Amino acid sequence: MAHINRRSWLKTLTSAGAGAVLLSPSQILAAMPTIEENTTNGMVRLSSNENPYSPSPSMKKAIAAIDPDLCRYPNSHFATLEAIIAKREGLDPSQVVVTSGSREGLKAVGQMYSIRGGEIVTCLPTYKALISYAEFLGSKIRAVPLTEELGYNLPGIAKEIKSETKMVFICNPNNPTGTLLDPGKLEIFCRKWSASVPVFVDEVYYDYIEQKGYPSMKSLISEGLDVIIARTFSKVYGLAGVRIGYMIANTRIATEIRNSLMSGTNIMGLKLAMTALEDKEFYNFSLEKNREGKRLIYSALDELNLRYLPSHTNFVFFKTGRNISEVQRAFTTEGVQVGRAFPPYLDWCRISTGTTEEVKVFVGALKKVFA
Ligand SMILES: Cc1ncc(COP(=O)(O)O)c(C=O)c1O
Repeated sequence: MAHINRRSWLKTLTSAGAGAVLLSPSQILAAMPTIEENTTNGMVRLSSNENPYSPSPSMKKAIAAIDPDLCRYPNSHFATLEAIIAKREGLDPSQVVVTSGSREGLKAVGQMYSIRGGEIVTCLPTYKALISYAEFLGSKIRAVPLTEELGYNLPGIAKEIKSETKMVFICNPNNPTGTLLDPGKLEIFCRKWSASVPVFVDEVYYDYIEQKGYPSMKSLISEGLDVIIARTFSKVYGLAGVRIGYMIANTRIATEIRNSLMSGTNIMGLKLAMTALEDKEFYNFSLEKNREGKRLIYSALDELNLRYLPSHTNFVFFKTGRNISEVQRAFTTEGVQVGRAFPPYLDWCRISTGTTEEVKVFVGALKKVFA
């Protein structure tokens, strides 16, 4: 379908009344934003690990149906979404806390465990929302370097857990490296150490894990352990702009998180999340396009002999051998926005998977920058 017809076709779809919109992958693709619609200030934005194929047709339809609810407080919808998520995850609704993006939950938890001082142990580089906020509030961050393979260093973290430790933060798969921990080792770690300190496992990229049957650490929560998990609707579900995510924890910790939230999310986020959970087609489509994007990125990096880490996320971390500020400038000149600096890996670059068209623009730019 020509792009020119896309808007009117979508309009027909979204005005077709209530009910799920079930589409084939090619129909979904035809309804997706064009590269021109996705660019910000003329730049292809591959810097923030978003899902550029969103909003899906079912999302557009749901947005059109939300109007009458906009004047209402969203309170009752929190419980509805938490119950839906709990059922899917095999948990009790009291163990799920819906938040304004997972970042609100990360900050709430950071606050809970830093308010009385002490230390948080983690690896760096990693996703810093929780630890930066905890540091701002007075916590000391004990940062362990990654392993030689740039993986999370669990034995290194274990060595740093002391009486002052208030929490351990693990990001799995990790941002910015895209690496995944051995699930058995992670489970043993969580079981052992959560008896002394809460262990936070950020599973925001869980859906992208390439290893079949890779377990979530949520099963430990069902056993009542002090493990806290972050999930989001910002990535594979494509709702980064709407701000909706959730925390999973045992009922005691979950209640404390709920009481620590600033305001939670809004009716739009709650309703769109419910729609997103029903749209299996868009979920599978997004995962497949992400795989395709990664394949294109890997093959270009292979061609140029640039080292990269096989990724379990929607981005790829690759070694440029040049300072990231210089690399960012070179890509900007080519119209591509790449990820920020991740010290101490200043000669590495993180690139998000965009649409296939956007990835092709990146590949063209890569070949020019590293010619
Ligand atoms: C590992 C990780 N956790 C959490 C977040 C926060 O995401 P959000 O607040 O959109 O749910 C991000 C965002 O990129 C992330 O990479």
